Amino acid sequence: MKFYLMTDLHFFSKRNWLADPYKWTRKPEQMQARESEEIIREAFDIVLADKETNTVIIPGDLTSNGEKTSHEDLLKIFEEYTAKGLRILVTTSTHDYRQKIPDAFSAEDLHGAMSFGYDENYEFKRFIECVPREKLRGMYAPYGRDKAVSVHEFSMSYTYDLDDEHRLLAINDDYMTNPEKNHRRGFSNDQYEWIFGQINKAKAEGKKIVAVTHHPLLTPSPIYMLIGKNDMLDRNLNVASALADAGVNVIFTGHSHIHDIEYHTSKNGNLLYDISTSALVGYPPAMRKIEYRDDGKVDVKTIVIQNLSRFDLKGQSLPEYCKESFFGMVKSMIGAMSKDFRTFAIYANSISIRYWTTYQFWWIFKAFGKFVNSLTLGKVYKVCKKESGLTKEDIAPIKDKKIVPIIVGFVEKLFAGNADIAPDTAEFKIIMGTVAILDDIVKSLGIKLKGLLGYSTLKEVVEPLVYNNGIDDYNALIDPLTPPEAKDPLPEFKSNKGSAIIIGLIISILLALPVLIPVGLVFGVLIALRGTTLFNPYKGKNRKVLPPTVD
Ligand SMILES: [Fe+2]
Ligand SMILES: [Fe+2]
Repeated sequence: MKFYLMTDLHFFSKRNWLADPYKWTRKPEQMQARESEEIIREAFDIVLADKETNTVIIPGDLTSNGEKTSHEDLLKIFEEYTAKGLRILVTTSTHDYRQKIPDAFSAEDLHGAMSFGYDENYEFKRFIECVPREKLRGMYAPYGRDKAVSVHEFSMSYTYDLDDEHRLLAINDDYMTNPEKNHRRGFSNDQYEWIFGQINKAKAEGKKIVAVTHHPLLTPSPIYMLIGKNDMLDRNLNVASALADAGVNVIFTGHSHIHDIEYHTSKNGNLLYDISTSALVGYPPAMRKIEYRDDGKVDVKTIVIQNLSRFDLKGQSLPEYCKESFFGMVKSMIGAMSKDFRTFAIYANSISIRYWTTYQFWWIFKAFGKFVNSLTLGKVYKVCKKESGLTKEDIAPIKDKKIVPIIVGFVEKLFAGNADIAPDTAEFKIIMGTVAILDDIVKSLGIKLKGLLGYSTLKEVVEPLVYNNGIDDYNALIDPLTPPEAKDPLPEFKSNKGSAIIIGLIISILLALPVLIPVGLVFGVLIALRGTTLFNPYKGKNRKVLPPTVD
């Protein structure tokens, strides 16, 4: 039995622009809102052309933010492709509605029911009406629930027979798990009972479960657990173990927009594989083709959409186009930070740092930018010569390689999966040698990282961003009952410089104190004066206007 899985379509109707959205140069963004229709149509065309299956499963975040326009237009696309022969099965999630609070009277409350579109100049955002959650019930009923075996009414979850042997368990996990923090990422007790009741029912009827939900059960990367802890399914590991013990060993998730495969072992020794798929309109613009094989294995393949037939990518591939939109801005912004005030100020403004603030603190940005942009592998090597075990000859070919693109590369690979700086390369040794020094500093300071981060060392967090030593995130043949084959462990890097570095720092600070105190005072006075007309000729002028170029 085969099907396609795509998620986080984040469809944004072109009606949310007052004028033709292609009139302007595009704005950098994580999700390609403007091209979302062209990408979704391309993905559906690929499925239509596939003679092996016509089934598409989509676990949530169908629209950008629940705009009524986006839902209406997406449903038209669904209708069109259903008529052409696709079987589309969906659940909705938190990006598919905005709840209007009854008795709303403050502007903030009203916000809850509105999203944003663009004006005639693709500039100022204007309100767009969103649908409340209840409306989704009827809107998306034709896409799974109408022909369900069982429906959990409140959550809109359902089971659906994909064929004679396989039953889809489509879980909507937007139950309000923490009303104070507005967390909607789990199940009610009642829903939990329904889920396990359905698993038992399927077993009794001899059906295999194909499970999907929106939020991740297993963190796609340790760093995601640090920055996106509130994005995991509520009580994620408990649910993962319970599913594994109930005989559901594979689940498909979205939400994180990360392309990744992880597994978890319950206390009883049962496995759960969480197959997380990148956002279709994000980076990489990918979907998966899945086969539940007769031998019990699950064959997972990735299809990255390469071209768009309805939009001119001007020679770029779609992954390049999406990558540039997502990360190009970060690279250009850091690049401009050391030398080009105007460019940097424009980029900074796009992430809500005011021109005025950039202007006032340009000297700090510039100093930091100069430092960061000057870092090369050769310079870092000087610090971790011993730890990396590399000789001067080893690093000669890469010594001028800049650090900034390497760090941006970590973030790219966090989303794209399959981080690939191989353990035998000088890059890997320099990065992990440096991390070993940082870990020794932390250890020497007596800081217990486990309590702070949930991980005992920085190495545990950084290493997966450098090299994927786990399951191939793109294509894998999964045996739901067997853990993946063990791979050779990655090389270890040790450092004992931590305490020496700390003592050195303390001595330097003590020695410099007689100089630092007066310099600090002078700086304090200068900073205080920067906001006055004495130092700032733009004081009192329109703060939305970009100040002139400064050195
Ligand atoms: Fe999403
Ligand atoms: Fe989401």
